[in-house]
Amino acid sequence: MRDGRRVLVTGGAGFIGLNLIAYLLATDPDLSVVSVDILKYGWQQASLARAAFPSRHTFVQADILNQGAMTQILKDHHINLVFHLAAETHVDRSIHSPEEFVQTNVVGTLRILEAFRSVYGERREEMRFCHVSTDEVFGTLGQDAPAFDEETCYAPRSPYAASKAGADHLARAYQVTYDLPILVTNCSNNYGPFQYPEKLIPLMIFNALAGKPLPVYGDGKQKRDWLHVGDHCAGLWLAATRGLPGETHLFGGGEETENLTLVGMLCRLLDEMRPRDDGGSYAGLIYHVADRPGHDRRYAVDSSKARRDLGWAPQMGLEEGLRETVGWYLNAGDWLVAIAADGGFQDWLATNYGGREATA
Ligand code: NAD
Ligand code: TYD
Repeated sequence: MRDGRRVLVTGGAGFIGLNLIAYLLATDPDLSVVSVDILKYGWQQASLARAAFPSRHTFVQADILNQGAMTQILKDHHINLVFHLAAETHVDRSIHSPEEFVQTNVVGTLRILEAFRSVYGERREEMRFCHVSTDEVFGTLGQDAPAFDEETCYAPRSPYAASKAGADHLARAYQVTYDLPILVTNCSNNYGPFQYPEKLIPLMIFNALAGKPLPVYGDGKQKRDWLHVGDHCAGLWLAATRGLPGETHLFGGGEETENLTLVGMLCRLLDEMRPRDDGGSYAGLIYHVADRPGHDRRYAVDSSKARRDLGWAPQMGLEEGLRETVGWYLNAGDWLVAIAADGGFQDWLATNYGGREATA
């Protein structure tokens, strides 16, 4: 690929999208970014305003399901690198409304792939399409099973994971069938600035700061392999610029941690950085609630290939990354206030936690 990259980031008002745009603009001074997002939830406007990107960034409000609009954006902005992140992303929401996940994640990916295919012939030598996916497509690991790698078979167990698996299959099929320069990445659980507080880490910080209970699903011994979002963004850039069409790369933090341990770490950081008025620990707010249906017990990712072939390695350890993340949320009061005031967010909390009985 030659310099002067003109990048499209789909899902650019989401958590990873916002971090990726900042990473790209800081990494390559010759690069410009167009981001698209449907802006479905009220908080995303507040996120875009807070991110305040410089002039090399253009935001377009659009739906990836609108193939004509996607094609026009690729053409008008002479895009030569696509990072496709737009998706419905929350497992719990996928349990409540699976159809939206199939529409956005499967059909939406089909549409953006079709748009890319339609403009590809015009500038084939310089183009790349990076399809961004998750380790959840591999299903759940036994306690002593080896970590997921690029050869692991897909075995998704939630509507979210199944819809991402469908999208991944389409991306790979388009690469082979139409000889398109498409790469796929699968990453473990991310955390960091701008993650919406429906996901575990920001929800715990959000609730703790409001003095509300910290709901841990089931026994809290489920394991996730946490990676700081900045390290994921670095991996995406390396995959897109050094990887080959048809390749897959897996990224993981190598920091498998039980949920209860993670929530304990967050509570200790908050105790130190924003002590409670009554002098107690935030850990006193932890309570166990009914488990998520079909809850995957363990994820772990083997990133040897990315380390070897891309020269990638995570730079941020979990303890350090959580400290930085808690610090970011403590300074993001206006953003959190906007989320708390969002009726849609409050409706979600009522839907997901309202009828969930506490367990021992
Ligand atoms: P997010 O939910 O914060 O952001 C997704 C964005 O996509 C949102 O801003 C949303 O408005 C947008 N979007 C949804 N439907 C759209 C549509 N029809 N048209 C345009 N935009 C639409 O999620 P995220 O955590 O930033 O995840 C981004 C991508 O990375 C997803 O594809 C996800 O599967 C993948 N991923 C996430 C993680 C993680 O831990 N968060 C890990 C691995 C992979
Ligand atoms: P989440 O952030 O939703 O990511 P994913 O399900 O994609 O891994 O959840 C991370 C883990 O935390 C997962 O095992 C579910 C658990 N969890 C809770 O225990 N309580 C909660 O309120 C949430 C949102 C998640």
